[in-house]
Amino acid sequence: MDHGSIFTDKTVLITGGTGSFGRCLASRLLRENRCKKVIIFSRDEWKQWDMQQSDSIFRHPKIRFFLGDVRDKSRLERAFQEVDIVIHAAALKQVPAAEYNPSEFVKTNVIGAMNIIDAAIISKVEKVIALSTDKASNPINLYGATKLCSDKLFCAGNVYSLRQTCFSVVRYGNVLGSRGSLVPFWQKLIADGAISLPITDTRMTRFWITLEQSVDFVIRCCSEMQGAEIFVPKIPSMKITDLADAMAPNLPHEIVGIRPGEKLHELMITQEDARHTLEFEKFYVIYPEFISQDSQGLKQALVGRGGIALPEDFAYTSSTNTLWLSADQLRELILTKK
Ligand SMILES: NC(=O)c1ccc[n+]([C@@H]2O[C@H](COP(=O)([O-])OP(=O)(O)OC[C@H]3O[C@@H](n4cnc5c(N)ncnc54)[C@H](OP(=O)(O)O)[C@@H]3O)[C@@H](O)[C@H]2O)c1
Repeated sequence: MDHGSIFTDKTVLITGGTGSFGRCLASRLLRENRCKKVIIFSRDEWKQWDMQQSDSIFRHPKIRFFLGDVRDKSRLERAFQEVDIVIHAAALKQVPAAEYNPSEFVKTNVIGAMNIIDAAIISKVEKVIALSTDKASNPINLYGATKLCSDKLFCAGNVYSLRQTCFSVVRYGNVLGSRGSLVPFWQKLIADGAISLPITDTRMTRFWITLEQSVDFVIRCCSEMQGAEIFVPKIPSMKITDLADAMAPNLPHEIVGIRPGEKLHELMITQEDARHTLEFEKFYVIYPEFISQDSQGLKQALVGRGGIALPEDFAYTSSTNTLWLSADQLRELILTKK
């Protein structure tokens, strides 16, 4: 199925459009050239300028750059005029920064989500997809907690939008090579001549997705969404030690201990969520636990499309995953940056 056709003649706005995900999605939409317009919404004029310089595709006649802050609802209302689809990727996401600046994370990730929902309803946007993270499942740090609040807000947004605007969430794990992530951090250490690689804990595992795959999945979800789903892709896990071996096979590992707010293993679907989750071939869908008429209808529609209930005690964790990336596969992915 051609999921990209959902964008034909539509105006798409990407909050956080200058970030890792936003650039990759914008580039895809502009290359496919089906949209009426692609609007990049973010705060920093320099990042917008840098994006325009980084690739000629970002000087396409259909792209617009809009400065604004998701904390500012009136600015969002202005930006959402005549927008059909919003992909909400703007967020603060550094775990330690969240612990030191909790109110800043609440303002961007939680109040920002509330503003997006209100502005989308007022502006009669058709569809909104918000990006979430595995850290929102049973969160142990403030970043994850704010993203869990955001997920709940978006799912509940469907109830008071009276189905005029559909809101859904896409939740996935670590993105290979995204801004501020482990791969660029280690690449810099290696380039600077490091004599060892810092490893927090040799047992640590993580889910792993490439930017292109995350964009593919969000596009697919845009076309499948009916509102209130949390879509979770089936993606592989990797051992942190395999990543180190993939990037620097000759460097010894220096064990530095797990950082505050980190988990040994990530979790995408908790056992409790699994009771209201259905499995499809390539992904899972968590539907709202608090059954309203709407969510009952959603469950029936998902079952009608082949969704299968999960076994008792199922949880989708990076340590018990059935799909794994070896050090060789990781090396290949990093080299090709797929
Ligand atoms: N990267 C990962 O490993 C990962 C994994 C799972 C989920 N996610 C989720 O995916 C989304 C995108 O992540 P990313 O890696 O692309 O992040 P990123 O590279 O850090 O980009 C974040 C974007 O948000 C914008 N932004 C931040 N605060 C804003 C505000 N108050 N108002 C408007 N724009 C704001 C930033 O631009 P300005 O600073 O110029 O405003 C930037 O464009 C996030 O929601 C994140 O939680 C990421």
